[in-house]
Amino acid sequence: MNIALIGFMGTGKTTIGKIVSKKIGFSFYDIDSIIELNEKKSISDIFIEYGEKFFRHIEAEVIEEASKKNELVISCGGGAVLDKKNIENLRTNAIIINLQTDPETIYKRVKNKANRPVLGSKNISIEKIKELLYLRKDAYLNCDFSIDSTDIKPEKAADMIVEIFYKNGGKK
Ligand code: S3P
Repeated sequence: MNIALIGFMGTGKTTIGKIVSKKIGFSFYDIDSIIELNEKKSISDIFIEYGEKFFRHIEAEVIEEASKKNELVISCGGGAVLDKKNIENLRTNAIIINLQTDPETIYKRVKNKANRPVLGSKNISIEKIKELLYLRKDAYLNCDFSIDSTDIKPEKAADMIVEIFYKNGGKK
């Protein structure tokens, strides 16, 4: 069994996922990092050179492969939920946990990072974050559990996830 973390950019999937993986002895498996390794390009360059459609295609392939593995904490890119097939694949072998964070906090976390192509490379705006959150709100709810990570420390969110995992049949 795996744990899959979904949620918008800046909700803490990577930070929290790494802590969870250490706590339960699973490997941390970051879908974006695997894509970058496979393609030998940054996510931003993949978007620029090949476009979002191509990115979504390889994202789906990497998620499908990850779903066949075991004992992983899988951190999905924020847009992975847009393709229902990704969630179906993850669900075959994972507890899916959605991390939620309010738009203001997301904005503070991502505004100075230039590696979020769907938000635009320059001038990331809170309006754009709100718009995408709205468009994706139902997709993020296609999960087993949601945790609001706005006001809690990553360590605490990780403890909550570990508890959910063991209470729901997770074994190491
Ligand atoms: C995306 C989120 C990013 C990355 C890509 C697209 C999105 O991942 O997959 O830039 O559409 O929300 P993070 O959520 O890890 O930043």
